[in-house]
Amino acid sequence: MNNKVWYPYSQMQLNESRYKVVHAEKEYITLDNGQRLIDGVSSWWAAIHGYNHLELNEALSNQANKFAHIMLGGLTHKPAESFAEKLVQITPKGLNHVFFSDSGSVAVEVALKMAIQYWSNKGKKAKCKFVSLKKAYHGDTFKAMEVGDDSDYQNSYNHILNKGFYTSIPKGGFNCTKEELQEALLELESILKAHANEIAGFIVEPIMQGAGGFQIYSPEYLTEAKKMCSDFNVLFIADEVATGFGRTGKLFACEHAGITPDILILGKALTAGYIGHAATLSTDIVYDAFLGSTYEEAFMHGPTFMGNPLACAVGLKSYEIFEREDYLNKIKHIETQFKVAFSDYQHEEIYEIRILGCMVVIETKSEKTVKGFKPYAIKKGLWLRPFGKYIYATPPYTISEKSLQSLILGLIEWFEMKK
Ligand SMILES: Cc1ncc(COP(=O)(O)O)c(C=O)c1O
Repeated sequence: MNNKVWYPYSQMQLNESRYKVVHAEKEYITLDNGQRLIDGVSSWWAAIHGYNHLELNEALSNQANKFAHIMLGGLTHKPAESFAEKLVQITPKGLNHVFFSDSGSVAVEVALKMAIQYWSNKGKKAKCKFVSLKKAYHGDTFKAMEVGDDSDYQNSYNHILNKGFYTSIPKGGFNCTKEELQEALLELESILKAHANEIAGFIVEPIMQGAGGFQIYSPEYLTEAKKMCSDFNVLFIADEVATGFGRTGKLFACEHAGITPDILILGKALTAGYIGHAATLSTDIVYDAFLGSTYEEAFMHGPTFMGNPLACAVGLKSYEIFEREDYLNKIKHIETQFKVAFSDYQHEEIYEIRILGCMVVIETKSEKTVKGFKPYAIKKGLWLRPFGKYIYATPPYTISEKSLQSLILGLIEWFEMKK
């Protein structure tokens, strides 16, 4: 076992077996023993086109032959300018400025810093806390952990985290009742009423909380919460690192609610799983608060690899393919197949099955039901990575019909074996 590499979310002493990848193409991952697995996770939701995509490879090598990286401090280049322009064009109207960074967590940090400084530039230094959703996950860096609510990732740091406020998503899923909506809005309102003078922003994963167990909630909640935030002078921040670029069935999950957040965070699929990169977009109102005659008001942040030309080139090409190949339609088809297979599926060990866009999650009643699932999936030729009591699939949008049906069958057979 190679313990030189310190693996993520791992108890290294357990020496868990790892499958060594030697090749990946389309939705297939090939292991060193020759076995080919269908990828049901898109490498943590990033590889939306699958792997080894000719056009993306070409975009990358064309750019590499010009220059692989140039700092954005004091210099600029076409890939960053064109990609920023494209992102402004395709994201909800009004998000006109793009701050690049190198990972989703850093883009969240950037968003939180922006929100805090937005208010301090306006002379309101007390507004420096955040409201977030219960079960939220926004990344593993410190400020991202502070707005997160997932003990699995935070236990060792709880004693130093400066936590803010947490509010519930409405019960009832995508189509909740008026009462469920009202209950959740009242909870948010009571926090804002009591603490708006110390709150900089409300950060949410719109429509679907991914790492928090794929909780799906009502678009109406977002529309109303956004209005409420404006009324209470609190910035509304949408973290679409996981939901962005089609995962929930719309290009951006905010579109389900028809809202433009004050700040929008993108990552993962932004660069199609090729190179880690992220973006934090803001409206003119936020951006303008940083303008001034001195550096005091300026946003003093600058990751070395921000706007990396390779990342921007591959991101631009990725979106071109997304649009040209009508990926939203492919996602609709996958969602329909998930619904056909799972909408009426019942099993005494399943609590709920939730489907939205290119995502299905089977929430079981106990972690025991999930035990042994990963090796089972490997035997079936599937790469799936359950966590806690959740078994989920978020395949690449380009998955073939045959692979999609194998994935669905593999999930169902696991439960059928337990009948
Ligand atoms: C909603 C959300 N925000 C932020 C992050 C952090 O992104 P990264 O892992 O690129 O730092 C993640 C990662 O899973 C995420 O799901």
